[in-house]
Amino acid sequence: MKKTLDSNFYWGGSVSSFQTEGAWDEGGKGLSIYDVRPTNPKFSDWKVAIDAYHRYDEDIALMKKMGFNFYRFSICWSRIIPNGDDEINEEGVKFYNDLIDKLIAAGIEPMITLVHFDMPYKLVKEYNGFASRKVVDLFERYARVCMERFGDRVKHWMTFNEQNLHATMLRVSNAEEIPEGVSEAKHLYQVNHNVFIAHCKATKALRELVPDAKMCGMTTVSNFYPEKCTPQNNLFAKQAYNYINAFHSDVFVNGEYPSYMVSYLENRGWMPRFEEGDAELLKYTVDYLAFSYYRSNTLTEGFFDNERPYGEIVNEHVIKNPYLDATEWGWEKDALGFRWTLNEMYQRHHMPVFVLENGMGAREELDENNEINDDYRIEYHRNHIQEMKNAMLEDGVDCMGYITWGPIDIPSSSCEIAKRYGFVYVNRTEKDLKDLKRVPKKSFKWIKKVFESNGEDLV
Ligand code: BG6
Repeated sequence: MKKTLDSNFYWGGSVSSFQTEGAWDEGGKGLSIYDVRPTNPKFSDWKVAIDAYHRYDEDIALMKKMGFNFYRFSICWSRIIPNGDDEINEEGVKFYNDLIDKLIAAGIEPMITLVHFDMPYKLVKEYNGFASRKVVDLFERYARVCMERFGDRVKHWMTFNEQNLHATMLRVSNAEEIPEGVSEAKHLYQVNHNVFIAHCKATKALRELVPDAKMCGMTTVSNFYPEKCTPQNNLFAKQAYNYINAFHSDVFVNGEYPSYMVSYLENRGWMPRFEEGDAELLKYTVDYLAFSYYRSNTLTEGFFDNERPYGEIVNEHVIKNPYLDATEWGWEKDALGFRWTLNEMYQRHHMPVFVLENGMGAREELDENNEINDDYRIEYHRNHIQEMKNAMLEDGVDCMGYITWGPIDIPSSSCEIAKRYGFVYVNRTEKDLKDLKRVPKKSFKWIKKVFESNGEDLV
């Protein structure tokens, strides 16, 4: 008998507020870290992005046309609580209420990400971001406000986008000031711990305020191949997988730091300080594991010394895989690696998994017929959807949905509009906003067919 995906499988798109909304100084919004952080002078700035704040009706209509039944967006914290510690901005609440209502009216289930790398600038300037437990508490307050205002209609929640990045980059926690006399590594893992506590406080709040909603834990995941078949290269790749990809999911699922991580941190004197009640809070586990997947990585032989955090060491060992094609940005396209990753996550954690970002960046311009023939994008998604189906239907992985990244072009995480992921072209360049017109690409029709056939028609 031919196996097919369940009829309640989710298909759709995923975005963040700062990469879509624009309207940086409208609607009572306070200053966000993205409004003050400089971008590469060759790229854009975040002021307009794709102006979704004013154009979401049109964007929802396009999503509906593509057959979406799911849309994950992030809330801009400084639209809801402008400075992070002040009054609620009702205009911001209204904006998201309208967005949610319109998505639901279009048959698209909304999912909220509370923090997608951004936060009110005041919380960075005054408290050094998530280095401060005060910010953890202010985050909990913000989470509760969102749950109270939107929880009647929104049943899928995420606290932090790609939470494992908090253990590799202080920048995403906005905690870049390292206190005197403290090593960078010690500070990094303390901040990461604070973010875990913030996540758990929000999970606890969701259980109280919206008991029928689901909370996920999210990581960015890619498999690590060893360059050589030496035992040491294999061990190094396995340890890299544990530290970078599995540490956070292990905590999300098991409610405590895994033993390999306790040893790693203790042996180096980097174990974070647990405040009273932290161990109990970690017990607030998630309902499913969400992740982003774009590429795989290949590592040369190495080992983890006692001086530098694991993220830094792994980065030094990444090499190009001669068997894989890469995007112009060097991201190696690896659909089989996607199947490998889905299996690894599901078999390790025994919890449903949910692909919340996948896609490829490409440089594109409208041709003389005002078209974009993005066959490479069709091929990328076809291969990944096929391998996801293999993971599900042949390997038994329980996967809830396939959600693409940036389905209507948006600037990249470094604010480079030239790195486009969408099925819909947005007419602007780095410096020229033009008319921001939305133009469906060739892949638009293809993805519509895929989504509407519940992944059956991949031709
Ligand atoms: C994820 C982020 O890491 O990858 C997004 O959640 C980001 O914010 C996406 O845009 C793709 O990365 P990039 O750098 O190509 O935009």
